[in-house]
Amino acid sequence: MHAFHPLSDVGEVFIPAQFRELASDDIPLRHFTDGNLGQLDRIFKHLRRGGVAVLSGQWDRIVEVLDYAERKKKELAPRIERTKRRRDFNRRDKRANPKESASAILMCYADGAGKLQIDPPPNLPYLLELVGENPDANEGCPFLLPIATVQKLKTALTQVYPIPALCTSLVAFENVLPPRSQETIACFQDGLRAIKRHLPQRAEVLEVGCGSGCLTLLAVQELGDLEAKIRASDLLPEAVATTRYNVTRSSNHTGLIQLLPAADLFEAVPDGHRFDLIIFNAPWVVSRARNRAELAIHDEGQGIVGRFFDEVPDYLKPSGRILLGYADASGTNALQNLESIISDAGFGVESRHTKRVATHRSKRKWEHIMVYELRKCSTP
Ligand SMILES: C[S@@+](CC[C@H](N)C(=O)[O-])C[C@H]1O[C@@H](n2cnc3c(N)ncnc32)[C@H](O)[C@@H]1O
Repeated sequence: MHAFHPLSDVGEVFIPAQFRELASDDIPLRHFTDGNLGQLDRIFKHLRRGGVAVLSGQWDRIVEVLDYAERKKKELAPRIERTKRRRDFNRRDKRANPKESASAILMCYADGAGKLQIDPPPNLPYLLELVGENPDANEGCPFLLPIATVQKLKTALTQVYPIPALCTSLVAFENVLPPRSQETIACFQDGLRAIKRHLPQRAEVLEVGCGSGCLTLLAVQELGDLEAKIRASDLLPEAVATTRYNVTRSSNHTGLIQLLPAADLFEAVPDGHRFDLIIFNAPWVVSRARNRAELAIHDEGQGIVGRFFDEVPDYLKPSGRILLGYADASGTNALQNLESIISDAGFGVESRHTKRVATHRSKRKWEHIMVYELRKCSTP
C-alpha cells in the first residue's frame, strides 16, 4: 500500500496511513466535482464496482451523496466486506475496527496547504495532524480523508468541555482524552500551587502527553507570574494539534507555550535540554490499548510509566520536580507497583494531592485520582 496515488485531475494525492487500506493500490480512485455530485447513480456504480469516490464541492450535496450511499448500503455490502476483510487482516485486534459503513469509501480532499475542498470550508486547522500524521507527511501534495472523518471533526468543534478552573472551554478531537475530569484538574492545580515556591523565575516546564492541552494551559495560568516557559508534546499528532487548537483559542499567553512535534515520551526534547518541572498525567489503566483512543488511558504492564521513570532523570535539572497524575482504577497492586517504579528511579514523594471520584470505568463505584509531587532523593 503506497502513501501517494494519482487522482485524475488533481494529480498525486497523499493518503494518511489510517485510511490506506480503504484505498489500496488496486482500488480505483475517481474524483467527482460539484458539477456531477447530482449524478448519484454514476457515483454509486463506481462504489459498487469496488472504487473509492473522492467528492469535492458543496458540503450539503456531499452529505446527500453520503446519505444516498448509506440508504443503499446493503447493495454495497459485498464491496465493504472486501475492504473490511483486508483491514481485519492488517490489524492485530479485530475489535478495534470502527463500525464499517458506506461512508468509509467516500472521501474528500484537502489541498497541499490543508484547505478542505468543500464549500463552505470548515475552520479545521492542522488537518493532517488531526488524522494522525506529522504536518509535513503529505510532502506538499493534496491529501484524502473519509467524509465520515470530516463529519466527526466538524462535530468535535461544536462539542465543548467547560473547564471552570481555566474560565474557558476546550475541544477534544478524535482519539484525544476529553478534559471531563474537573477533579484531575483540581489535583494538578493544587500540585502546581504547592510546587511553585520551589521554581525559579522563567522556570522551564515540560508536559509529556498533553492530550487536549488542559494541563499545559493550567501550568501557564498557575505559573504565569514566574513567566514559566511551557513545552508540550504527545505521542499522537492529533493530541498535539488539539493542544495547539485549544491554546490558540483560549490563551493570551501563547508566547509562553511551545508545542514540540508528536513523539514518544522525551524524543522531541532538544538534546541536552533539562527542565525545572515535568508534568505527566500518565495512562492509568493497566491493560493493552486496542486502538488509538485507548492510548490515552491504557498502559500495558505499566510499560509507559516505567519507561518515563527510566528516562526522566536525563531531562530534569538537579533540583527539578515531577508532577505525576495517576488513578487506582487497576487496583492496589498497580498502585504499589507504580510507587516501586518511582522509588527505584530514585525519586521521593514530597506530597500527594488526591480526590475520590465516582467511576463507570471499572467494577468498583469509586476510584482515586492522585497527583504525586516528586523530587530526586539526595544521595547519602
Ligand atoms: C491520561 S492522558 C492525559 C492527557 C492530558 N494531559 C490530560 O490530562 O487530559 C495521557 C496522554 O499521554 C499520551 N501518551 C500515551 N503514551 C505516550 C507516550 N509513549 N509518549 C507520549 N505521550 C503518550 C496519550 O496520547 C494521552 O494524551
